[in-house]
Amino acid sequence: MRKLLLILPIFLFALRYEPITPLQPIKYNKQKALFGKKLFFDTTFSADGTISCASCHSPQYGGADPRDVSVGVYGRLGNIQSPTVYNAVYNFRQFWNGRALDLKEQIKGPINNPKEMGSSPQKVVEVLQQKYLADISRIYHTDKPTFEMFQDAVAEFEKALVSVDSKFDKWLRNEGNLTKQELQGYYNFKKLGCITCHNGANMGGNSFQKIGVIHKAKDRVGDRYEITHRNDDKFVYKVPSLRNITQTAPYFHDASTKELFVAINKMAYYNLGLSLTDQQIESIIAFFKTLTGKRPEILDAK
Ligand code: HEC
Ligand code: HEC
Repeated sequence: MRKLLLILPIFLFALRYEPITPLQPIKYNKQKALFGKKLFFDTTFSADGTISCASCHSPQYGGADPRDVSVGVYGRLGNIQSPTVYNAVYNFRQFWNGRALDLKEQIKGPINNPKEMGSSPQKVVEVLQQKYLADISRIYHTDKPTFEMFQDAVAEFEKALVSVDSKFDKWLRNEGNLTKQELQGYYNFKKLGCITCHNGANMGGNSFQKIGVIHKAKDRVGDRYEITHRNDDKFVYKVPSLRNITQTAPYFHDASTKELFVAINKMAYYNLGLSLTDQQIESIIAFFKTLTGKRPEILDAK
């Protein structure tokens, strides 16, 4: 009996082990992040003065873009769906195929991309010189702006875009309840195998996986193959985060659906070889609705 009492707490702790952990806020420099926010929303950095980071990553749409492909300078269309910048700091790499190591490196992409901002580091420095010298000297103690300062400030802002305190995270921390259907959805998500790829704090963003593990997928744009040229990397993407998933339609790299019902069905078919009942899908949707976190405070801070 004594022995049993001793192992009981360990047993209970083990029972409570969850493969998803609550999102933690990340410490950031507020002064820099507020400066980065100005830059993130400023269209002057783009070639034709119409596009900012926020054009394709809007707080109105959970940091993502509701369009199938984004529209860049001179109305040019991109070829892949824009993922959210919320919680991107938690991704082990950036971009669908992980070609940037971190947020700072990622920023070079849209600045230089002729279909996005069509700009250059040189132009960025010129704009900083003309418009932001006061901020630069206050924060970086110099009157010579560099592109690295732009990267540093924007990345600092992105660090603040963590959407904490979702209903699910509160439940994980024993601070609130889930309904029966929401719990059933989480249970199904684990039992069916979704959890093998969508896990960790960001429920994704921590591994490269294939779309089409069981049934071959049809479309591939911007996958790992484009970097490695290894046949095994065809159809391989960084697993997208499922945080705030109800706000970030359309889904998949090719924006192939706007409906969560269809997206869940598609994942089950292509990656698990399963056909789910309507009830199972509805429960997973109910669970997904609990993944919406608070609007990041930095967006309303002055
Ligand atoms: C014209 C639309 C557009 C603009 C402007 C734009 N982005 Fe993006 N962003 C995208 C698309 C599309 C992707 C996905 C590209 C890919 O993975 O190949 C992306 C990817 C990202 C990612 C990676 C997220 C992840 O989960 O991998 C981050 C971070 C990001 N953008 C931040 C920014 C920042 C910061 C700026 C401004 C300097 C910016 N974006 C400007 C469309 C845009
Ligand atoms: C073998 C790994 C794997 C498994 C298992 C898996 N997924 Fe995915 N999931 C991915 C990958 C990779 C993508 C991106 C595919 C693409 O864009 O074409 C993705 C994309 C998604 C998306 C779209 C996210 C977005 O922002 O575009 C949803 C929703 C999703 N999965 C839900 C699920 C559900 C529900 C299950 C279980 C039924 C599941 N996944 C099982 C790897 C997996």
